[in-house]
Amino acid sequence: MKSVKVAKGGHRLLLWVILAWPFSLYSAEQESSRFVPVGTPADLQYAAQLWSAMVEEKIEGEGRKSNPPFFGGARPHGEILELSDQNLRVGSHTGFIVVKRNYGQAGVADVRGRVTVERVTQNRAKFLDSITVMYQRESGYDDLHQNWFWAKFRPDGSLFRKRIEGRETALAGRLLKGKQREDNAGCIYCHSAAGGGDYIFYPEITSRRSH
Ligand code: HEC
Repeated sequence: MKSVKVAKGGHRLLLWVILAWPFSLYSAEQESSRFVPVGTPADLQYAAQLWSAMVEEKIEGEGRKSNPPFFGGARPHGEILELSDQNLRVGSHTGFIVVKRNYGQAGVADVRGRVTVERVTQNRAKFLDSITVMYQRESGYDDLHQNWFWAKFRPDGSLFRKRIEGRETALAGRLLKGKQREDNAGCIYCHSAAGGGDYIFYPEITSRRSH
């Protein structure tokens, strides 16, 4: 009789350990991370909402409004880029969005052939690699960094993933906000170098935003 009771208690403990294990791992990861959580379920949900709003406003998707592609020379080899910016409503909030379409390294030949402005102009879909987005959310989201929500989308609207601190992470959210300011990395870190404190590199975008 007694031994049965002990066994039952043991099973219950085992069950508890099994159920709680993924959560304790998750919180241990959060605690040991240098960054505030990114790619969380809430970030994924927001990214999906943002993408829908972009498609609705024809920033992406069928019949989208296009701008001329150009050679952006910031990197060693330069990329063919296309930029757009405007105010966009997501849920009950209206914020400024900047979208950068990345069409591959200029002049580099791959299975699609050489990437040039002319060829991209003729067939954008063929060369589009990724869509990097910064969207200014409501205040309180990330006041230290102008409340930008950062995301890297594939042409179909799904998110890129990357290993961050050993964990496969969807690229959406406060990428990458350090728990200490000096630990900032990724989009936020690089874009802090853009003058004027607004995290935007292209001066013409900055001036459109402030008008
Ligand atoms: C290594 C530094 C670096 C990182 C990391 C980086 N960017 Fe940028 N980004 C730049 C530079 C430099 C420009 C301007 C020149 C260009 O377009 O290449 C830029 C331009 C942009 C623009 C056009 C608006 C502007 O700032 O003028 C967007 C949108 C953007 N990046 C989004 C992102 C997102 C989203 C991430 C993270 C997933 C990211 N960037 C990560 C350096 C970086």
